[in-house]
Amino acid sequence: MRRAPLSAVPVVLLAVLVTAGCGSPQNTLSPHSKAARSIASLWWNMLIGSALAFGIVVLILAGAWVRRNRPGFPGVRDGDRAALGVVLTFGLAIPIVVLSTLFLVSNIFLIRDTSLPTASAAPGDRPKLTIRVIGHQFWWEVRYPGTPAVTANEIHIPARTPVQVLVYTDDVIHSFWVPELNRKIDMIPDQTNSVLLYADKVGRYRGQCAEFCGLQHAHMGFYVFADPPARFRAWLARESQPATQATQVFQVRCSSCHAIRGTPATSNVGPDLTHLASRTSLAGLTIPNTPERLREWIRDPQQFKPGNQMPALGLTSAEIAQLVAYLEKLR
Ligand code: CUA
Repeated sequence: MRRAPLSAVPVVLLAVLVTAGCGSPQNTLSPHSKAARSIASLWWNMLIGSALAFGIVVLILAGAWVRRNRPGFPGVRDGDRAALGVVLTFGLAIPIVVLSTLFLVSNIFLIRDTSLPTASAAPGDRPKLTIRVIGHQFWWEVRYPGTPAVTANEIHIPARTPVQVLVYTDDVIHSFWVPELNRKIDMIPDQTNSVLLYADKVGRYRGQCAEFCGLQHAHMGFYVFADPPARFRAWLARESQPATQATQVFQVRCSSCHAIRGTPATSNVGPDLTHLASRTSLAGLTIPNTPERLREWIRDPQQFKPGNQMPALGLTSAEIAQLVAYLEKLR
């Protein structure tokens, strides 16, 4: 039997690596804000620069192979002081200059283009809205200061409007990252960090926790919905409303962890469920928000997301059906 040549393995691995991010809804190279464009162009410039450097190194290596029977650097005799000069120049001086320049340039780009505008910025550039996002293992709590609105894993912002996001953590370190809109910002215990969110156009942008935070770090996703400003205001007004009815089974079985505003359930251990039915997904984008999935999730949350903080409560089918019917009304 003929075997594939061994040299094909790195080619295939490289192809997988190069195409792995293609078509992903979460793509740093598909920027939708000035900040993300700056990051993408920095990335492309660094790629081109490092490709050039790599090409030069390969050329030198090829030259060395061609001359492999003649010792020493061309034009430099063996043992010469100049030979040491060549080593110090290419091995020390050039890398120091290149790496320090890269460090400086990337920081200048980041500070200039991705930070929140300062108080001296033009009024049009200053944030029009502040949102608080709190990291939990393994979901995102989202609050809109000045309103009672609290939601989870799905952040709405007005499009083409600078938004200040203040980030905190309730437990371990997480990192808030919407690759198409801006850089990452870490959520550190006992510290408040902030980042600018801005979307050029209406759309849905996927975000992801970018700091390993435990077993379900990979399933700690969220969406940013950039809405037309009028639709955003309508969403926020509806999200600020309390629920109109409570149900006994929720109060007895779920209220030690979850809140539904307007009912006696006020705990904030798990996500606020006041408008659960208006969300598109459950469990930090792990599953779509459909009645079937919600039922399966309540029956056994660990099957979808092993290690998450929600326990299986051993509810009867009748209790689960009653809960799902109630939660589905919370739009
Ligand atoms: Cu939260 Cu990783």
